[in-house]
Amino acid sequence: MTYTEKDHKFKRYTVTSALPYANGPVHIGHLAGVYVPADIYVRYLRAQGEEVMFIGGSDEHGVPITIKARKEGCTPQDIVDRYHKIIKDSFAEFGISFDIYSRTSSKEHHETAAAYFEKLYKEGKFVEKTSMQYYDEEAHQFLADRYITGTCPHCGNEHAYGDQCEACGTSLNATDLINPKSALSGAKPVLKETKHWFLPLDQDETWLRQWILESHKDDWKTNVYGQCKSWIDAGLQPRAVTRDLDWGVKVPIEGADGKVLYVWFDAPIGYISFTKQLKGNDWEKWWKSLDTKLVHFIGKDNIVFHCIIFPSMLHADGSYILPDNVPANEFLNLEGDKISTSRNWAVWLHEYLKDFPGKQDVLRYTLCSNAPETKDNDFTWKDFQLKNNSELVAILGNFVNRTIVLTHKFFDGRVPKRTENGELKTENDVIRELATFPERIGRSIETYRFREALAEMMNLARLGNKYLTETEPWKLFKTDPERTATVLNLALQICANLAVLCAPFLPFTADKMHRMLNLQALGWRDAGRADILSEGTQLEKPELLFEKIEDAEIEAQVNKLLETKRQNELNAWQPATVKSTVAFDDFGKVDIRVGTVLECSKVPKADKLLQFKIDDGMGGRTIVSGIAKFYPEPEKLVGMQVCFIANFAPRKLKGVESQGMILSAEDKDGRLVLITPSQLVTAGVNVG
Ligand code: 2FM
Ligand code: ZN
Repeated sequence: MTYTEKDHKFKRYTVTSALPYANGPVHIGHLAGVYVPADIYVRYLRAQGEEVMFIGGSDEHGVPITIKARKEGCTPQDIVDRYHKIIKDSFAEFGISFDIYSRTSSKEHHETAAAYFEKLYKEGKFVEKTSMQYYDEEAHQFLADRYITGTCPHCGNEHAYGDQCEACGTSLNATDLINPKSALSGAKPVLKETKHWFLPLDQDETWLRQWILESHKDDWKTNVYGQCKSWIDAGLQPRAVTRDLDWGVKVPIEGADGKVLYVWFDAPIGYISFTKQLKGNDWEKWWKSLDTKLVHFIGKDNIVFHCIIFPSMLHADGSYILPDNVPANEFLNLEGDKISTSRNWAVWLHEYLKDFPGKQDVLRYTLCSNAPETKDNDFTWKDFQLKNNSELVAILGNFVNRTIVLTHKFFDGRVPKRTENGELKTENDVIRELATFPERIGRSIETYRFREALAEMMNLARLGNKYLTETEPWKLFKTDPERTATVLNLALQICANLAVLCAPFLPFTADKMHRMLNLQALGWRDAGRADILSEGTQLEKPELLFEKIEDAEIEAQVNKLLETKRQNELNAWQPATVKSTVAFDDFGKVDIRVGTVLECSKVPKADKLLQFKIDDGMGGRTIVSGIAKFYPEPEKLVGMQVCFIANFAPRKLKGVESQGMILSAEDKDGRLVLITPSQLVTAGVNVG
């Protein structure tokens, strides 16, 4: 039984983690917000001997997947097959210890979700409503909001979507758009009547208010509670749970051809259908038994779905338990900027695993210690390096390594005997303090304060280092081998405790430590004692738990991001707005000519400038131009023809008089490119 629940009513734990959309890989934002905390929680509960089920899987429906498929000219199934595999494999390699990682396109899920809807339908739990929705007469289908673009009525952006204008951030209804256009065919959509089924959330206000705002006032996180309160206070509206779309779970009733369940109706049912896949006939106790504790790990954008809509679905059925807690995190930013899949501004898990093989725990550690538990937080590569080098290497790795190396040096790698001689007080203090760690760490985990829990675990390594520094066994051995044995025995007991207590956070490191210490698998309740490693145990050769991460590795990652930024800027490039109209006569005042380059060289002491000698058909002239960076071999320009303004007032540049201006185009990446006629012409002719 766990610490905060000494007399609790729970016998088992159903722990779910948000199902990531299978339209892209998983990134550090997902990990820090959802999967790392969920994994720490379940690993801890298992170590406590609790019965736990950890559910994960891919969310494979929804409009963005169909849009991506259309863009790539493949089927939505192709898209989800591709990303489900990448996501599932990378989670496994990263050590997220799901009991099942399934997918919502599976047959079992479709059956479960359809049956769930059908039951509520038959019991009259939905409200049927007809409304007018945009229809594409060329593509013969109703249009999801994301499939309609048009002009935003608020800011005039011509590329706003039917649900939101990304330029001004306003959320819209498709019918708000000016000049709506179908993204499928480009046609102007027409409004057509359609029927949908709604979950009447307005009827749920009373019990939701009581359940969340009263019963969970003190145990739900402030951010979660606050969002729920403002939703409920604003007045809940009936919510459509079906859509006109051909990708998803078919609505299993007559007269619903061409309709599927809304993705946010079917996805959370995934938690239930995956339980059925995992547990077979034994599934119900995980969802319907009052002695089961249900916990949903999610990001803050999922709060309303997990705290209001899904509970209303469970309540409508009537036979399910409700979540005991929904520990949602805020968002993680990357290098000061919002993580974005479409802008590729992310650290992708599958790429991290390739770039940093064997370093899963370094990322787990960094993400947990920076987890956005109460406010948005930032991941930087510099901080990642610092956490590794100054904490994992210098504190935890250093303590364990020193202890094992000294044991090999002085005692042939056998756990030496601890005798009660010498400075008993020091040992007793350490033993007493050691005993408090399992509870301290456990309490923080049980209350979803994972950063605090991790910091406590590191405090135990700090205690170990302090003990070694105070007792100096490397010096002591010469004068007092017996007391050295005591010191190393106790230091090894701390290592063994760390092996148990770091396991939820750093499972790969914990495994290594168990191997090095020849430590049998122990539970959380065995920890805290100073005798868990038996005297005489032969230790294995020490291997480093963590390696220093060099500047070059960090620079490579930062450069990758800088390149992404550059690409994004290029993609966002748009031609400059056309300047105000000029009269023909005004244009005629500018005398543009073609000249042939006779000589070209760098202007001394001026990085940017090239000095041209031009044959202008009138005896030649000198022109200085700021394009040196783009033409590193100026002598190669000799013989080329360029366009120049012949009647530009002369001016001095770095001591050279420039008699005109050579014309060049600035490309979208800032490169200057000389303008040259497409065929040789006589030097001095006019351009116009
Ligand atoms: O926000 C998301 O990524 C959703 N795919 C989460 C779904 S969680 C659950 F309800 F399935
Ligand atoms: Zn707008």
